[in-house]
Amino acid sequence: MKFSEEIKRRRTFGIISHPDAGKTTLTEKLLLFGGAIQEAGAVKSNKIKKGATSDFMEIERQRGISVATSVLAFEYQGVKINILDTPGHKDFAEDTFRTLTAVDSVIVVIDVAKGVEEQTEKLVSVCRMRNIPMIVFINKLDREGKDAFELLDEVEQKLGLKVTPLSFPIGMGYDFKGIYNIWEKNINLFSGDSRKNIEETIEVSDLSSPELNTLIGDTAADTLREEIELVEGIYPSFDKELYQKGDLQPVFFGSALNNFGVRELLDCFISIAPTPRAKESDTRVVQPDEKDFTGFVFKIHANMDPKHRDRLAFIKIVSGTFERNVPYLHTRHNKKLKFSSPNAFFAEKKEIVDISYPGDIVGLHDTGNFKIGDTLTTGEQLNYKGIPSFSPEHFRYINNADPLKSKQLAKGIDQLMDEGVAQLFTLELNGRKVIGTVGALQYEVIQYRLEHEYGAKCTYENLNVHKACWIYVEDENNDEFKDFKRVKSKFLAKDKQGQLVFLADSSFSLQMTQQKYPSITFHFTSEF
Ligand code: G4P
Repeated sequence: MKFSEEIKRRRTFGIISHPDAGKTTLTEKLLLFGGAIQEAGAVKSNKIKKGATSDFMEIERQRGISVATSVLAFEYQGVKINILDTPGHKDFAEDTFRTLTAVDSVIVVIDVAKGVEEQTEKLVSVCRMRNIPMIVFINKLDREGKDAFELLDEVEQKLGLKVTPLSFPIGMGYDFKGIYNIWEKNINLFSGDSRKNIEETIEVSDLSSPELNTLIGDTAADTLREEIELVEGIYPSFDKELYQKGDLQPVFFGSALNNFGVRELLDCFISIAPTPRAKESDTRVVQPDEKDFTGFVFKIHANMDPKHRDRLAFIKIVSGTFERNVPYLHTRHNKKLKFSSPNAFFAEKKEIVDISYPGDIVGLHDTGNFKIGDTLTTGEQLNYKGIPSFSPEHFRYINNADPLKSKQLAKGIDQLMDEGVAQLFTLELNGRKVIGTVGALQYEVIQYRLEHEYGAKCTYENLNVHKACWIYVEDENNDEFKDFKRVKSKFLAKDKQGQLVFLADSSFSLQMTQQKYPSITFHFTSEF
């Protein structure tokens, strides 16, 4: 197959949702359609079980699963689909944000009864910032939930999206009769036992036809006609270009558990979802169909086997082809590296591949060369942008608990930070190290992994920080900045890249500082 055709047939996306909305179930049904798995239950949930925060076996189990489900690839009607896994647990939100830099589109799953939840709001706002095309799937229609129009309203209000339904439910919960597919103009009736079967659809191109009454009964038929009329009146008609620009979001309804409405979603997805997109670097925009390979690291998984310091770096291919045993330039180190066993991912297996295309993800064995955000190219010196760090929510001093193991501790911290488990800040005043995380769970993960993988022991000490802000000032020699550095020296630190960070102890003091030093800009992400 020609290079350009390989690009055209790829769709790389992520499924995002609040935990429990049905992400794992939907993933599994998509894989079933692709014939990539044979039965339900094959995809393991990477969810952290409730109450498992101090259960290290659970953390290890979760890490193991998270390697297995990092990328799930399958073929459907000649299209190569790569699903990138995104942890739903809020303590791992940063991992999800980074994965979103490697997707070309997303599917947002919403629970029909719970509506838009907190985690959905956060993740969708990141996608909106990046203009990532989104399709919304409203799940669990076999249960009683909110009214469809009310939900569409909620999605628009809370998520700030502009929606257009491409399918519409006929009834709900006990009365759930099926789905009218606006996109294909047909009806799919819910028989309650469609779990395993791929359902048949009935063509209903004309809603006014009396056949509709025979199919779903007079009352339901009349309601459907009214509702579809309303849909057509209220919502804009679908426009692929607007969707791909991130300005319009199609909505589907269904029940992932019952395999209902999933085929409609998948068929529409493969025809509208974007092929691998161009990506901005620090020097220029790189197009996927350029001949030379470029790609970037968006995820690192380390030390699954504590006996080997083995890491797997996940690279998203942006342009050209990635080939086995060919030397590529690691642009941050300015040195060439070659990989004898790059892994590709198929459903839940990984295999060594000779060649991969834009949109694909390869896993490279790494002995410590990579960190998140690194760029590989055929030879051009460029760096991909767009993997920012967000201000952590929690901050603690990290102390060495075993003076004989300070080297091990330093190495462990260094590698865990490269993996993106947490962020490290070094105080300007006294060189003390502060770990910032999105969730409290990370501290336990770090402590456990330092001990089991690096033989180092640490303790933590609380530190009162409200937010970390990355500091920017045009002229470092201006008096205002000098004054700021002197007055606030207690609150200044460097991040791992050496950027200056202000650790504000309250929102009030942050506000006061901002007012006092107008020539300094305080950023809440590391990239600006
Ligand atoms: P997540 O990955 O988004 O966290 O959600 P997951 O797929 O694990 O689904 C969460 C729960 O919702 C599961 O039940 C799952 O079976 C159920 N579910 C998913 N889709 C549907 C649906 O269309 N209808 C109904 N009624 N339920 C659905 P659980 O009891 O938490 O887990 P399990 O013991 O069934 O695996």
